[in-house]
Amino acid sequence: MRKKIKIINIVGARPNFMKIAPIVRAMEKHKDVLDFLLVHTGQHYDENMSNLFFNQLNIPRPDIDLGVGSGSHAWQTAEIMKKFEPVALDYKPDYVLVVGDVNSTIACGLVAKKLDVKVIHVEAGLRSFDMTMPEEINRILTDRISDLCFVTEKSGEDNLLHEGTPKNNIHFVGNVMIDTLLANKEKAAKINICDKLNISSPEYFVATLHRPSNVDDKANLNKIIKILLHASSLKKVVFPVHPRTRNKLKEYGLLEKLENNIILTEPLGYLEFLDLISNSSGVLTDSGGIQEETTILDIPCLTLRENTERPVTINIGTNTLTGLDEEKIKKALGKASKKEPKQGRIPPKWDGKAAQRIIQIIKKVNNL
Ligand code: UD1
Repeated sequence: MRKKIKIINIVGARPNFMKIAPIVRAMEKHKDVLDFLLVHTGQHYDENMSNLFFNQLNIPRPDIDLGVGSGSHAWQTAEIMKKFEPVALDYKPDYVLVVGDVNSTIACGLVAKKLDVKVIHVEAGLRSFDMTMPEEINRILTDRISDLCFVTEKSGEDNLLHEGTPKNNIHFVGNVMIDTLLANKEKAAKINICDKLNISSPEYFVATLHRPSNVDDKANLNKIIKILLHASSLKKVVFPVHPRTRNKLKEYGLLEKLENNIILTEPLGYLEFLDLISNSSGVLTDSGGIQEETTILDIPCLTLRENTERPVTINIGTNTLTGLDEEKIKKALGKASKKEPKQGRIPPKWDGKAAQRIIQIIKKVNNL
């Protein structure tokens, strides 16, 4: 009988779903040599933070849902570890594949490594060099225990080599999130989100904010409100509000300040959001993935952070780091409004084939 390898694929939070979709699809084409499970940790659980993405991206239902939910970092990471260990012990995989940099990524990677199961990290090597960011801690620790590191941009390779990762473990394959974007672009264009929100392309900006450093801190959240109100004096602003951000806006009594001037929505589905940013004049965000999505779509992106782990979006793409600096933001918004935005190009290997490359490499290192 032909040798098969067994892999457990992990998802937990919203940005994981668009990364796992093309990987699972590519694995399905190699069932002769691969057996795999999909495990959802339940880190995100709201209908529009989780289920909706499985439906829109045709991701098979998870084989196992750990149902962990929200809590402090230590609690959430520990719960995921406790609930994932018996699954790994029972299935006895050769590999656990984790994506991105969320708590589910490090929790499941750590469980695997301690059971002597090899770890695959997709989107390895990204570094913001900001250890106050929970994601930076998750990225560094996950990479350190990974046997196969798949990177999206050249900086990832450089960072891993600098940290002593053996060259043979590092593979520059491109970006699985962009695989998903390219596969869904036409479908998204049929959504007509502008009609639904009563806005017209490209006469609006999109805002998304959820980083603890921006939304948990009252002074920074106040600054952000000022910035959004300024943006709304130039064009309409659509702001799909992440649950963490909504909770904080309510807690600080700041929601009313936005309600009259900004179009506030619930978190949108993947296709709705893709259609929304594709038709906009520009995006203000503190997300990681959106910096990459706007680069491929050639839409100006203002990143309201002091650093980025995705330098290719600045060097090649449409991204500008503004922090919460009002002057920088006003200048960048002015340029985007006048259609004089930064001209971007497409980063190497962001061509829709990253997941295929990943599967080929997994097969190759296992002589399959
Ligand atoms: C997590 C990731 C972050 C990612 C983001 C995308 C970590 C450390 N952070 O941050 O990297 O960019 O997901 O969204 O893993 N909540 C709900 N419903 C949900 C999920 C969350 O109401 O389905 C609320 C809860 O109040 C929860 C809070 O949002 O406490 C934060 O959720 P959590 O998963 O802890 O972190 P995110 O801020 O979403």
